[in-house]
Amino acid sequence: MASYQDIFIEPAEHSPSVSRKKNSLPLSQETDWYKDAIVYEAHIKTFFDSDKNGTGDIQGMIAKLDYLEALGITALWLLPFYPSPQRDDGYDIADYLSINPDYGTLKDFKELLNEAHKRGIRVITELVLNHTSDQHAWFQRARTAEKGSAWRDFYVWSDTPELYGDTRIIFKDFETSNWTWDSVAHAYYWHRFYSHQPDLNFNNPDVQKAMFNVIDMWLHLGVDGLRLDAVPYLFEEHGTNCENLPETHEFLKKLRSHVDKRFSGRMLLAEANQWTEDAVEYFGNDDECHTAFHFPLMPRLFMAVEMEDRFPIIDILEQTPAIPPSCQWMIFLRNHDELTLEMVTDEEREFMYRQFAQNHKARINVGIRRRLAPLLENNRAKIELMNMLLFSLPGTPVIYYGDEIGMGDNFYLGDRNGVRTPMQWSADKNAGFSRGNPQQLYLPIIIDPEYHYEAVNVENQENNPSSLPSMP
Ligand code: NOJ
Repeated sequence: MASYQDIFIEPAEHSPSVSRKKNSLPLSQETDWYKDAIVYEAHIKTFFDSDKNGTGDIQGMIAKLDYLEALGITALWLLPFYPSPQRDDGYDIADYLSINPDYGTLKDFKELLNEAHKRGIRVITELVLNHTSDQHAWFQRARTAEKGSAWRDFYVWSDTPELYGDTRIIFKDFETSNWTWDSVAHAYYWHRFYSHQPDLNFNNPDVQKAMFNVIDMWLHLGVDGLRLDAVPYLFEEHGTNCENLPETHEFLKKLRSHVDKRFSGRMLLAEANQWTEDAVEYFGNDDECHTAFHFPLMPRLFMAVEMEDRFPIIDILEQTPAIPPSCQWMIFLRNHDELTLEMVTDEEREFMYRQFAQNHKARINVGIRRRLAPLLENNRAKIELMNMLLFSLPGTPVIYYGDEIGMGDNFYLGDRNGVRTPMQWSADKNAGFSRGNPQQLYLPIIIDPEYHYEAVNVENQENNPSSLPSMP
């Protein structure tokens, strides 16, 4: 598999170009662009299939950049596009330094960066630090390496599954332990997510070095921001819940200074699904991440609208500590995961399930696997109100692809796939997403009568001045 080491690729253009009209500074010289950005989240495979094989690809994404520019977004957050067995939608990475061949090549990716930058759109990619796929060469090497060797210690091993017993299980519907026995290594390995996603051992300096190489490669290519997936779980410590440990913050300071020394105008985004007092720590003293998701605010927006009471919103904002001047919260309504209910009280969770997921099929782990429009019973006024809150509360708004046109979902598809179906472009075959055989699509198109792609699609809405995306 070709990687960055094999093909040297010139970094993408960061300078202004003729067609870039938003401002005149080169993108890399604007340092706090993330403070008032409008971020659009999408998976390459879900967006547009340019080669008729049923899966979206990088050339397809390039073809749709004009749509995104017209929508007014200023940053595109791409979900993992690396080689992967795809057992966790690409968050199970088998090689950090190349592109999944189903989506294209590094050259395609560089073209995407250039084309996005020309339009004043920055690109944020995934830095999955915490774990790899069990198919990653590091894990294959570790399980056969000698006990105690640096290679073995790329991952976290134990002779007993009792260690770190105070740590919660995140994928509660799928896993019963954070340890899995490896019959090759004759030891248990630690994993905070699926058992096929072993956690890397950040106590090993070689792991840190390997990750810095990964960061250097993508930032050198011209990526503008990195979302630090599952960042609270990098270290483990006996007698703790293994989340938000001081070692994690030390490491993040090192990472930030590494980036600051080599690059300008880049952004680090913490995915820390934590209460505000812990989440705020990911900004450090302006020396860790530039941004962090505000997880506790999200379910409270739904609660407030449902209760017709502003209290849940005011209350959580009052509980949110001040953040350093150059930092910013990222706020969102929905994303590619379940609507997580980890950062609410038991009563609030009950309320949310009762109001938004009467059908138990809609529930997964500690959350609800539905898109924005179906959650709000396709109520236009509520959809508008939620979007107005998203765009007016303090923080940078993040829109989930398809929600701008009120796409439906399909919770019969398993895991979180129901909110990851192909983007609906028109009433044509495969919703205009692909010219391939409908049976070949990576996931079926939404044909639920209320959200059928023949009605809910970009083309229809572009022709209707009263449609959702045309909202003032
Ligand atoms: C967080 C990602 O958002 C989610 O999709 C993924 O399953 C977990 N990290 C594990 O990688």
